[in-house]
Amino acid sequence: MNLLITGGAGFIGSHVVRRFVTQYPEYNIINLDKLTYAGNLENIKDIDQSPNYTFVKGDIADLEQMRSVIKDYNVTGVIHLAAESHVDRSITDPLIFVRTNLIGTSNLLQACKEAWKDNWEGKLFYHVSTDEVYGSLPLDDSMFTENTAYDPRSPYSASKAGSDHMVRAFFHTYHMPVVISNCSNNYGPNHFPEKLIPLFINNIINKKPLPVYGSGENVRDWLYVEDHARAIDDIFHKGIHGETYNIGGHNEWSNIDLIKTLCAVMDSKLGREVGESEKLISYVTDRAGHDMRYAIDGGKLQDELGWTPSLQFEEGISKTIDWYLTNQDWLDNVTSGTYQEYYNKQYGK
Ligand code: NAD
Ligand code: TYD
Repeated sequence: MNLLITGGAGFIGSHVVRRFVTQYPEYNIINLDKLTYAGNLENIKDIDQSPNYTFVKGDIADLEQMRSVIKDYNVTGVIHLAAESHVDRSITDPLIFVRTNLIGTSNLLQACKEAWKDNWEGKLFYHVSTDEVYGSLPLDDSMFTENTAYDPRSPYSASKAGSDHMVRAFFHTYHMPVVISNCSNNYGPNHFPEKLIPLFINNIINKKPLPVYGSGENVRDWLYVEDHARAIDDIFHKGIHGETYNIGGHNEWSNIDLIKTLCAVMDSKLGREVGESEKLISYVTDRAGHDMRYAIDGGKLQDELGWTPSLQFEEGISKTIDWYLTNQDWLDNVTSGTYQEYYNKQYGK
C-alpha cells in the first residue's frame, strides 16, 4: 500500500498520519501538504524520521503536480484531508475555498482516475468531510443522518458539499472505489488557535477577551481528534465502497456552556480564583449566516463498523488543556508566525 494522505501537516491530518505511520509499518505513507498558514510540520516531528514516511510539499489545486505525485509514488490509496477549513475565513475569502476544496479535490480524483482506471482492484479514495454540509439544525433533538439532504450555508460548507458530490460522481460514473465520512467538530492537541477551543485556551492563558459570537446559544457536537483518526482507520479498512459514514461525539454543548466549562477548568489548572477567566467573556457581533446547531446520528458507524467515541468530554478537554499548557512554545510559534518562516526557508514559499 502506497498511501497518500493529504493535509497531514494540519490539525486532524497530523493525527491521522501519526496513526497510520505507527500502526501500519508495512504501508508507505506519503504526506502531501501545501503548508498554508494551517500546516505545521512540527505537528508530526515525532514521526518524520520513520522509514515508512515521506513528506511532499504540494498543492492539490495543481493538477500536473497531482498527476506526477500519484504516478511517481505509485499511489494505491488516498485519504484526502487537505482543505481550507475555517468558516470565518470562508466568509472573507470564499474563492480560496472553491480553489482548494472543490477544484483541488476534483484534481485529485482526476489524477487518481487516470492512474487507476485500467485496474480499480486494491485502490481506494477516502474523502474526509464535515457535518456542516447538512446545514443547520434547530434547538431540538433532531440529528443529521447519512440520508439528510445537503443544505450547506457557508462558503466553507458549500465548497465541502461540492467536493463530496464530485467524489460520489466519480464512484457512480467511473466506478472509482471511494468512501466518504462526515464528522462533527473536533478538538484536541495541534488545533490551530483560530478555532473556538484553542483560541479560547490561548486567550485565557494570556488573559485576553473571549469573543462569543451572538448569544452563545449555538450548539456543536465535539469529538476528540484521536477518536476521529480511529474512525478514519476503521472506515478506510472496513467501509463499503460508495458509502458515506457520519462520525459524531454524542457530545453536544452550547458555545456558552462550553466556554464557561473551559474557564472553570483552566482557573483550576492555572491556580486562578474561581470565576476569574469568565470575566474575559465578551459578546460580539454574530458570525454572518451562523449555523445554529449541528448534531450527528452515528448509528450507522456503530452498527456496521462497531465504532464509538472512546473519550468522555471531561477527560478529553482536560487532556487538551494540559497539552496546550505544556506546549506553549507551539502556541507561541503559531501565533507569532515563526513556524512559517522556518518552513518557507526549508521548502520555499
Ligand atoms: P486544518 O486547516 O487544520 O488543516 C488543513 C491542512 O491542509 C493544512 O495542513 C494545510 O496546509 C493543508 N492545505 C490547505 N490547502 C491545501 C492545498 N491547496 N494543497 C495541499 N494542502 C493544503 O484542517 P483540519 O481541521 O485538520 O481539517 C482537515 C479535514 O477535515 C478538512 O477536510 C476538514 O473539512 C475536515 N473536517 C474538519 C473538522 C474539524 O472540526 N476541524 C470536522 C470535520 C471535518
Ligand atoms: P469554530 O471553531 O470556528 O467551528 P465551526 O464554525 O466550524 O463549528 O466555531 C465553533 C463555534 O464557536 C461556532 O458556533 C462559532 C463559535 N465561535 C465564537 O463564538 N467565537 C469565536 O471566536 C470563534 C472562532 C467561534
